[in-house]
Amino acid sequence: MGDTFRVLLSDSLAPQGIEVLKRFPQLHLDIKIGLKPAELAAIIAPYEALLIRSTTRVTREVIDAATSLKVIGRAGVGVDNVDLEAATRRGIVVMNSPTGNSITTAEHAISMMMALARHIPAANAALRAGKWERGKFTGAEVCNKTLGVVGLGNIGRIVADRALGLKMKVIGYDPILTSEAAARAGVELVALDELFQRADFITVHTPLTHDTASLIGATAFAKMKKGVRIINCARGGIVDETALAEALASGKVAGAALDVFVEEPPPVDHPLLKFDNVIATPHLGAATDEAQVQVSVDIANQVAEFLIEGTIRSAVNIPALSPKELEVLGPHLTLGEKLGRLAAQLITDSPTELTLAFGGEAANLKPDAITAAVLKGLMSGFLAEDLNYVNAPFIARERGINVTESRSREITDYVNTLTLTVRTRAGDHEVAGAVLGNRALRLTRIDGYHVEAVPEGYFLMLHNRDVPGVVGAVGTMLGQAGINIGGLELGRDRVGGTALSIFEVDEPVPDSVLDKLKTLPAITAASLLKL
Ligand code: NAD
Ligand code: MLT
Repeated sequence: MGDTFRVLLSDSLAPQGIEVLKRFPQLHLDIKIGLKPAELAAIIAPYEALLIRSTTRVTREVIDAATSLKVIGRAGVGVDNVDLEAATRRGIVVMNSPTGNSITTAEHAISMMMALARHIPAANAALRAGKWERGKFTGAEVCNKTLGVVGLGNIGRIVADRALGLKMKVIGYDPILTSEAAARAGVELVALDELFQRADFITVHTPLTHDTASLIGATAFAKMKKGVRIINCARGGIVDETALAEALASGKVAGAALDVFVEEPPPVDHPLLKFDNVIATPHLGAATDEAQVQVSVDIANQVAEFLIEGTIRSAVNIPALSPKELEVLGPHLTLGEKLGRLAAQLITDSPTELTLAFGGEAANLKPDAITAAVLKGLMSGFLAEDLNYVNAPFIARERGINVTESRSREITDYVNTLTLTVRTRAGDHEVAGAVLGNRALRLTRIDGYHVEAVPEGYFLMLHNRDVPGVVGAVGTMLGQAGINIGGLELGRDRVGGTALSIFEVDEPVPDSVLDKLKTLPAITAASLLKL
């Protein structure tokens, strides 16, 4: 790094953050707001740092053009406007301010709930239009009502706390929070279906992921109480907009309050904006002076400290390790993260306990970062807050996941092994892997079955009876679906017993093909894994 650094700010930031940047003589700040990706790509080359909020889109095109870029600072939580994979591959550190706007966003959700319960926006509009309609706007008390919080992370737990102050009964669902940790936050942890059945108000606070997209959709509405009210101050698309419109039209849902939309801004003729009992705000969750100051000062300090001192705080895509340490630990960190990711795809209930056994030469490694990598892999798919090796153990502790490490220098089939056991109330899952020759990674065991696969890409995992013809039948079905098989691993408990078959496939196996595979008499389970 040179002595001075060029910093580009491409979204509006609270002045306090700009003052922080100006205080460092080493930083040269340019402010250019409202750039489209192509315009940003055209000017980004000389900059070492880019500061953004949610409007700038840092696409692959921008990253490719950003030949000097070392750090992207996001003043806020979600980094969904940054192509993280492209940035990581280029070694660009992406930082955010994970909690700077949590209180503000939780307060917005509570305000939306209260406004919904008492028809405040519609009553205000009617009064301004000269109408004094007291009967029309009779509302509902929230006291003693049940609030269902979907997603009990930073924001969800603050919402729960505030709702308890309003004397509501708070129930919650979160796939990686234990009942004990939820109880500490005053929340009764329930299954999602039970939450749908019991709640009078439902508020969502999850990231938008493959699992949460349309989580609140037609099937969910069918399970809810008539007259339920829905609040979404998280991300557009978690609540299915078409299904919500239908549920409002049928009277199943008494009202909805939305801060976020699939398309932002939503088109003026958006069907949901036609309902009187829908309250909509333009992604204002984080829009308070306090939160904007907090996130802008946070990110300005983080970026300055990184450029000038090399200190990394709240980075979402790299571990806090020196380059020398990384060289030795690197392959084990990758293996650990992949084992965690694999276990996350096997479990069907919240993890309560995790045991990581370091075997052979791996017993000599510094365990902390590897354990953090495993936790990152295990929890990443569930959290909006992008995890790194620094915050993953903290978040696991907070969520009541106990971690135990053990070591044995005895060398078994491989010179070094890493074995991960994840305990849930629905049972244990065990996965193991090894690093060969200091570089190559191997997956060596899944739930007691021996395998030997490179943990990279897509895998079709089948549990089947060990009878002739299974591999041929599966190969035919995959072939008919145009899916190429790159490799095959078979493990069985005994001849003619039960078997685990792992097909390395070149592309994802669609749900329709998985369903078809499950109709084969010898197959008891079929799932797609991504590593
Ligand atoms: P967080 O990572 O702290 O918490 C997210 C929680 O969702 C985690 O506890 C996770 O376990 C849970 N979760 C993941 N998948 C789930 C599932 N399928 N079902 C139930 N729970 C699931 O994130 P946060 O900081 O609390 O942010 C929550 C959301 O709010 C994010 O989408 C974030 O981008 C959004 N946000 C919006 C605004 C706004 O302006 N409206 C402001 C800040 C954050
Ligand atoms: C966030 O992710 O922090 C929010 O969407 C708020 C924002 O930055 O506008």
